[in-house]
Amino acid sequence: MVDCAVILRHPIATPTHETIVREYTMSASPGTVRIFSILNGLTLLGVLLQAVWAGEFIGRPGRQNWVTVHEIGAFVVVVLALATAAAAVALRRASSAVTLGALGLFVLIVVQTGLGEAITKGDANELITAHVPIAVLIFGLGVYLSGVGARLRRG
Ligand code: HEM
Repeated sequence: MVDCAVILRHPIATPTHETIVREYTMSASPGTVRIFSILNGLTLLGVLLQAVWAGEFIGRPGRQNWVTVHEIGAFVVVVLALATAAAAVALRRASSAVTLGALGLFVLIVVQTGLGEAITKGDANELITAHVPIAVLIFGLGVYLSGVGARLRRG
């Protein structure tokens, strides 16, 4: 009879780091990865448009309509980020980076929306100093998640 411990210690029987990574990557369903990538891309597009609307109302006359568009845009981005996070949770076994990153993105977008409401409704203009850089951080995290999604698609 062959000793199991000997088999496990044998170099051929021991899975390499590469094998482990490949097995984990293969456990990601291609359909879920595609849905995640599409939702994340739409979230990124929504964040980019938020900057476009902001460009229309910052220091411009007739700003109220664009502030309202920016507020509606925030709601759309929150919903998209939530859907992205749900898809990322389904991919948790394939990539914990995707799950943690997408959950972090959702939290940042909710915080961003709260800050925006405080700026407009609470007249807390000093919070613009946080609102603008957080938008840049959100966009950077979204681009990072696109990269991880692309790596998962390539397997
Ligand atoms: C994820 C991205 C963003 C979200 C979710 C978001 C959300 C919001 C929300 C909900 C408001 C309040 C609107 C209202 O109550 O009518 C707001 C206000 C504001 N946002 Fe954003 N925003 C984002 C990106 C940006 C960017 C990129 C900029 C600028 C470059 C920006 C600049 C501002 C400013 C200046 C206000 C205050 C408007 C005022 O004077 O009343 N936001 N934001």
